Amino acid sequence: MSTSEKGVFLNNSWYVAASEHEIGRTPFARKVLNRPVVLYRCEDGTPVALEDRCCHRQLPLSMGEVAGDDLICGYHGLRYNSSGLCIGVPGQSAPPPGARVRSYPLLERFGWIFIWMGDPERADERLLPNWWWAAHPEWKRSDMHLIDVACNYQLINDNLLDVTHLSFVHKGSIGNAAIVDFAAEIEREDRMVRMTRWIMGRPPPPMYKAAGRFAGNVDRAQIVEFVPPCFTVNYAICKEAGSGLNDDDGRIRIDHMSLSAPTPETPSTSHYFFTFVRGYGLDDPALDHIFEDGFLDVFREDVAVLEAQQRNYDLDVEQVNIAVDAAPMAARRLVGELITAEAISAGTAASNPSTFPVRTPTESA
Ligand code: FES
Ligand SMILES: [Fe+2]
Repeated sequence: MSTSEKGVFLNNSWYVAASEHEIGRTPFARKVLNRPVVLYRCEDGTPVALEDRCCHRQLPLSMGEVAGDDLICGYHGLRYNSSGLCIGVPGQSAPPPGARVRSYPLLERFGWIFIWMGDPERADERLLPNWWWAAHPEWKRSDMHLIDVACNYQLINDNLLDVTHLSFVHKGSIGNAAIVDFAAEIEREDRMVRMTRWIMGRPPPPMYKAAGRFAGNVDRAQIVEFVPPCFTVNYAICKEAGSGLNDDDGRIRIDHMSLSAPTPETPSTSHYFFTFVRGYGLDDPALDHIFEDGFLDVFREDVAVLEAQQRNYDLDVEQVNIAVDAAPMAARRLVGELITAEAISAGTAASNPSTFPVRTPTESA
């Protein structure tokens, strides 16, 4: 039984399979939820995702070639249509019965190609994150980024939901010591965890000071919305102290979001897709530099932390929880509940629904 079949991953969900510019008329291989997938585009541009292994002798179909809307295996030439059905075998009149590979539903939105890894009948567009800012003219979207990170995807979720780490990991850019002085509010909805923190009347962190040209203290809000299993919006608002964060009074108000979608590759590796959008200074190229290059450096700082954490988690060490873990733990509970429900409905419920091997001292043997 594969890892995903054991319930480690949520199968009935969308995941980002690729940035739209990655997929063209050449077969493209990517592992998602520990399963090999090949992607390509039909002649009309429609993206296709098939299981990346030939049903004949298992050669990855990504080593073959696209012909029209079909994919031809590079070993003995079996020809598959865009539904994964084998429609031709060289040297014989018809394919053998059952000659097909799995196909996966796709949706192309916000510059990404989303893949549905579970039951195709249950693929539901309403379960996509509602990231409308990425396609709205009053917001400016940066490039689509991908970093392959050697860690479980839930460590990335944790990182995005715990913004107190900005005070330590990113103190040279978007963090400063003021953050931990203000408590966060955590809200749980049916399919969302939201964390809100207001930081009032404190100095701006370096990147915001440069972007907003603030001379004195600022009021800030950090709002993080997590939609399972791996979609997080980190929304930052920053304005001159005392001017009212919600007022449209002509003063500079930084509106910036990071949209993060770490797709599990294996239990210990992730394809970390992300982009940035901002709702102010759309025509200011200096802000392109500050937010594009600046936040890329911020994310690289996180990657170093995440991979170092994973190396120690591989040792199955004990850990404790502190107050700032409230939002990440709420998100893990939400993901765990969905995985358990999926396993129960499939009759494969695991005795331990944990989606990541974590023990606290009191739970340890
Ligand atoms: S392995 Fe694909 S045609 Fe033989
Ligand atoms: Fe970070």
